[in-house]
Amino acid sequence: MTSATSLFSPVEADLELLTDNLKQLIGARHPILYAAAEHLFGAGGKRLRPAVVFLVSRATLDGQELTQRHQRLAEITEMIHTASLVHDDVVDESALRRGVPTVHSSFTNRVAVLAGDFLFAQSSWYLANLDNLQVVKLLSQVIMDLAEGEILQGLNRFDADLTTETYLEKTYYKTASLIANSAKAAGVLSGVSDEVQEHLYQYGRSLGLAFQIVDDILDFTGSEEVLGKPAGSDLKQGNLTAPVLFAMEERPGLEALIEREFSQDGDWEQAFAAVLSSNGIERARQLAKDHAKIAADSLEALPPSSSRQVLLRLTDYVLSRAY
Ligand code: IPE
Ligand code: IPE
Ligand code: MG
Ligand code: MG
Repeated sequence: MTSATSLFSPVEADLELLTDNLKQLIGARHPILYAAAEHLFGAGGKRLRPAVVFLVSRATLDGQELTQRHQRLAEITEMIHTASLVHDDVVDESALRRGVPTVHSSFTNRVAVLAGDFLFAQSSWYLANLDNLQVVKLLSQVIMDLAEGEILQGLNRFDADLTTETYLEKTYYKTASLIANSAKAAGVLSGVSDEVQEHLYQYGRSLGLAFQIVDDILDFTGSEEVLGKPAGSDLKQGNLTAPVLFAMEERPGLEALIEREFSQDGDWEQAFAAVLSSNGIERARQLAKDHAKIAADSLEALPPSSSRQVLLRLTDYVLSRAY
């Protein structure tokens, strides 16, 4: 179906089982949540995060079969991600996700808040049941980081003094922490050394940063039709991402438009065009490339295997993806 899917073909069977399990784990208790779960897990998410967990698991298991714990870790990872999206769409007032109407627009804000909470709560329960304190600590840190990231983003809206460092810090909290800590947790479950754990963390962190920087570029260059979610909304809402931060260095006029929060007719259109015609997109792309390279280098710590090969190809995929 997609370039992501063909790349994931070595773990396609694992991912299919994951989708079935997620629908069952979430849906069993409440009809409304069943409807939300069907809606969320049936629609075409890329399942990047569980794919990374499966690939890291296979790359660290030395040919042995996946354990139930590895499988459950992948499910927990996708559950946490999906919960964050349900809440993110409420915060962003976003109408479309994965090509279908968001939970809050199909149901109500109340259902979306409850469904997101329920997913976070469920994920914590399954996490505790892995009976591995180190993994519990890694993934519960992620849940804190996600909240921190959304809060940082909310506080920094329309702040033209935002630095690239703060942008990257927020990006770590919102996106990279989950990929980093779940990749490391997969290694922990496989019993790898502390040193390899750190490389897995570094891989996920850098891959996650590259992935989110590209997402921020696609918000400028992509279309709603292709992305399956609204485009152009980050700037409109005052979320100043890498392309804008770089564009501001070249276009002093941009700062004034942002500071008055696009309050005059044509402000936003003018700002959007200024970003597109600057080197902002190109410089953001270079920043994403730098992080993808760090991710690729971190894989040297793993023994060669077909799974490691796919993890390496993922560092290219995140740069070239169209949605
Ligand atoms: C969306 O993540 C949120 C970001 C971190 C950009 P994905 O782009 O992985 O979303 P799905 O799971 O494929 O819908
Ligand atoms: C990612 O950020 C959302 C979370 C990780 C919670 P975005 O706000 O950029 O995600 P999209 O663009 O809505 O998918
Ligand atoms: Mg969003
Ligand atoms: Mg985005």
